[in-house]
Amino acid sequence: MKHLISAGDLSRDEALLILDTAEELARVSERSIKKLPTLRGRTVVNLFFEDSTRTRISFEAAAKRLSADVINFSAKGSSVSKGESLKDTALTLEAMGADAVVIRHGASGAPHRLANWVRGSVLNAGDGTHEHPTQALLDAFSMRQRLGRLEGLKVAIVGDVLHSRVARSNVLLLSTLGAEVTLVAPPTLLPVSVERWPCQVSYDLDAVLPKADVVMMLRVQLERMNAAYFPSAREYSRRYGLDRDRFAKLHDDAIVMHPGPMNRGMEISAEVADSPRSTIVEQVGNGVTVRMAALYLLIGGENQ
Ligand code: CP
Repeated sequence: MKHLISAGDLSRDEALLILDTAEELARVSERSIKKLPTLRGRTVVNLFFEDSTRTRISFEAAAKRLSADVINFSAKGSSVSKGESLKDTALTLEAMGADAVVIRHGASGAPHRLANWVRGSVLNAGDGTHEHPTQALLDAFSMRQRLGRLEGLKVAIVGDVLHSRVARSNVLLLSTLGAEVTLVAPPTLLPVSVERWPCQVSYDLDAVLPKADVVMMLRVQLERMNAAYFPSAREYSRRYGLDRDRFAKLHDDAIVMHPGPMNRGMEISAEVADSPRSTIVEQVGNGVTVRMAALYLLIGGENQ
């Protein structure tokens, strides 16, 4: 494994190796001194062309806990604002000797292109509406941690699938790992290609909830919407929001997830988001260990 660009590129064994390695690294994160010397002398560049809180901070924390040198690049305030291209930015980083480049970009496919221009490993931290593979890995890790298994789990992914790289990566990864995924959304928020995805599709959240072990709510990505995809925020919430009444339809062991950032009161009520059966805060913590595992497996080898 040289790059981590799509969750669909991972075999079952590769995905399980990342999750198992993260589990070992999680034990280190529980110690008072969290640092390991594993990536000493390696350089990780975080290249963020789009805003991020969780992914950017957790990749930085992950690289630092493994003792890598970290260079944080944000498009805002860089020469990108003077028109410098992704390729020229990448070649500049290449000259600094990056062993790994973590990239978030608004264009689907940007990490794939970057992998042709740099010698180091490329990790996709979210590209347009395409993929967010480390989010899917940390989600799978969080499900396994809470429920003890992935094989046969019934996972409902609910909401703005059309604009969601998280949904696509989760469908690909979870199907590889033996979970049964159902996407639940209004027809306007499903991509046309969804019939080729390895999952079921439903428009009826109330029918899906009682059978689900995991309900993953997606953020309504208003900033990517250039048309009216639903009549009003209120109507969306009424049909597809997870509020107290809908939460009551879940079985007792079912968990609620959200990748963040949340629109509280729209796709999820504050009461549900903050309930003990919500894994939202755990997901953020697990993001650090899963990203440590990905960096370690990609650039931690003897021959790097
Ligand atoms: N889940 C996620 O990708 O969050 P950020 O946009 O804050 O990184």
